[in-house]
Amino acid sequence: MAIRPIHLLGSPVLRQRSAEVPAVTDEVRRFIDDLFETMDAAEGVGLAANQVGEMVRVAVVDADGDRFAMVNPVIVESSGRETAEEGCLSIPDHFGDVTRPDRVVIEALDRDGAPYRLEALGLKARAIQHEIDHLDGVLFTDRLSALKRSLLLAKYRKAHKDDASFLKLPEPKTPRSA
Ligand code: NI
Repeated sequence: MAIRPIHLLGSPVLRQRSAEVPAVTDEVRRFIDDLFETMDAAEGVGLAANQVGEMVRVAVVDADGDRFAMVNPVIVESSGRETAEEGCLSIPDHFGDVTRPDRVVIEALDRDGAPYRLEALGLKARAIQHEIDHLDGVLFTDRLSALKRSLLLAKYRKAHKDDASFLKLPEPKTPRSA
């Protein structure tokens, strides 16, 4: 397993639509393990494949005590509406209020390639939708009002004006001592 560098806002891979995974092979499983490890190191609630530069429809989520991989995820039902603050590992330290359905049902393949159906509410539903957006090249900033989006992007650009690249390697977590 390996922690992978995360692409930050401005990197073109965040704006491309990712391709379906034809089969969940050992290579895909190793990649899923890398995604989990990278998400944990960055202390995120989700991470999509294109955020580490792989243009495949794979993402991981760790929200509300549930931890799972999604391969080729599709939202088959959504309902309700909730506005909550949202952030993104590719837009670190910047947050905005995003309105989304507060309940979704998805169909996807798991790490073993087995199909599953999952109903999610609240934070988990939000994380799932955020990650599936990534696979379509959509960022949470796209879902803000025009004014809030331009304010956030201006602040982000100012904070990152001296960045040498669009890549950021998360620090591995220090193991807790007993
Ligand atoms: Ni994100």
